[in-house]
Amino acid sequence: MIQVEKLSKRFNNFTALDGISLHIKQGESFALLGPNGAGKTTLVGILSTLLKPSSGRVLIDSVDIAEEPEEAKRRIGVVSHNPYLYDELTAKENLEFFAELYDSEPDINSLLAQVNLDHRARDMVGTFSRGMKQRLSIARAILHDPSILILDEPTSGLDITSRKAFYSLIKNLKSRGKTILLTTHYLDEARLLCDRGVVLNRGKVVRDIDLQASEALELEDIFEGLG
Ligand SMILES: Nc1ncnc2c1ncn2[C@@H]1O[C@H](COP(=O)(O)OP(=O)(O)OP(=O)(O)O)[C@@H](O)[C@H]1O
Ligand SMILES: [Mg+2]
Repeated sequence: MIQVEKLSKRFNNFTALDGISLHIKQGESFALLGPNGAGKTTLVGILSTLLKPSSGRVLIDSVDIAEEPEEAKRRIGVVSHNPYLYDELTAKENLEFFAELYDSEPDINSLLAQVNLDHRARDMVGTFSRGMKQRLSIARAILHDPSILILDEPTSGLDITSRKAFYSLIKNLKSRGKTILLTTHYLDEARLLCDRGVVLNRGKVVRDIDLQASEALELEDIFEGLG
């Protein structure tokens, strides 16, 4: 579903991604791990067509994102730690606005119910807590019914209750067959939500990890040696 081939990204003389190859299957839930500056957000930026790679290519559901970015974008929903919502609009108005941008007609009440915000539908987003904004940004990311959901540190700064609500939402989306790519600094989160993953360091894949195998128990050790 997501095929990354020898992908590199340079910013002037600095190499942020250095020949990365990944293959994520449909319905798989995949973790991108690695220390600060490893290149995770850069990779997410390329996958979501916001950044252009310096070399290599990415296929999303067999669509080359450089050749057909609009087609690729339709298949992807992105959640970053910045929620990208309009504070001066209500929750419902935000979703209506983004639905129009995507030219899609989702059932907005059902989307709000899925993220447990139906009772706040008519409240301004500016009055929402961080966790509520994060949940609303997930509703925004899935309103065009993408087959892939990309999440960049979606739970950073969330309290335990919001985090748990978020986990059950992701598990639900996974059970509905969505392909999920998650970057996180929380290893227990990766184990809870993901089947498999890689550790990135200095723009390279330094390790493939089966997160459901006992190998995953040593992840902290692997991580500590990097930087
Ligand atoms: N627009 C840019 N211009 C120059 N350098 C950049 C740019 N974006 C990212 N970088 C550099 O690329 C490297 C990788 O950054 P990136 O944000 O992808 O890391 P990350 O793995 O997401 O880290 P974190 O865990 O802190 O979010 C960093 O050294 C960063 O300074
Ligand atoms: Mg990042």
